[in-house]
Amino acid sequence: MWSGCFRFLLLPFKTHRSELLQDKGSNLEAYANETMDPSLCWRDIAWLKSITNLPILIKGILTREDAIKAIEVGAAGIIVSNHGARQLDYTPATISVLEEVVQAVGRRVPVLLDGGVRRGTDVFKALALGAQAVLVGRPVIYGLAAKGEAGVRKVMQMLKDELELTMALAGCPSVEDISRSHVRTDRDRLQSML
Ligand SMILES: Cc1cc2nc3c(=O)[nH]c(=O)nc-3n(C[C@H](O)[C@H](O)[C@H](O)COP(=O)(O)O)c2cc1C
Repeated sequence: MWSGCFRFLLLPFKTHRSELLQDKGSNLEAYANETMDPSLCWRDIAWLKSITNLPILIKGILTREDAIKAIEVGAAGIIVSNHGARQLDYTPATISVLEEVVQAVGRRVPVLLDGGVRRGTDVFKALALGAQAVLVGRPVIYGLAAKGEAGVRKVMQMLKDELELTMALAGCPSVEDISRSHVRTDRDRLQSML
């Protein structure tokens, strides 16, 4: 929104209106306009399911209501994600809404999480709050940029080592031993004060 305003302010005074209308913005804007279809809706999942036997996971779920809707339309899994917080400012941190989604889903389909997973402790927290697994985006890209394939391997190994250390320190010999009682959320703290 703001970038549009700034672009207008920077235009030369005699720019013709037709030139304004032809302006497709930055390459990123053009890419977004060409690749995103605003007419997509929940009904399209039925069509998607009709053309593939692959499991369809719906990514970008942040609320109880959307989690229930995703199951109703036949999602095989849910990914709690705010797309790396790159799409819309002020979306909640995914870890803060994970439990709401997990409770709404009630083990009917797997719930995965991404967004902000940077350390083994982040993986541990997500598993404790009910995620079956986590996904990582930028850490892998950073590793790739720094050291290619070896950098990506290093990032994954660091996350694995940190998770194992966290599990050992928390007294969890296996992933199945990680439980809700291993973490304390803001909501827990508020409830304990009531
Ligand atoms: C450069 C970049 C491009 C992305 N493009 C998309 C996209 O086209 N569609 C999408 O669903 N998510 C996209 N994402 C979000 C990732 O799939 C993922 O949800 C996010 O990066 C996870 O958060 P993290 O980077 O903090 O681990 C993109 C992320 C980055 C960094």
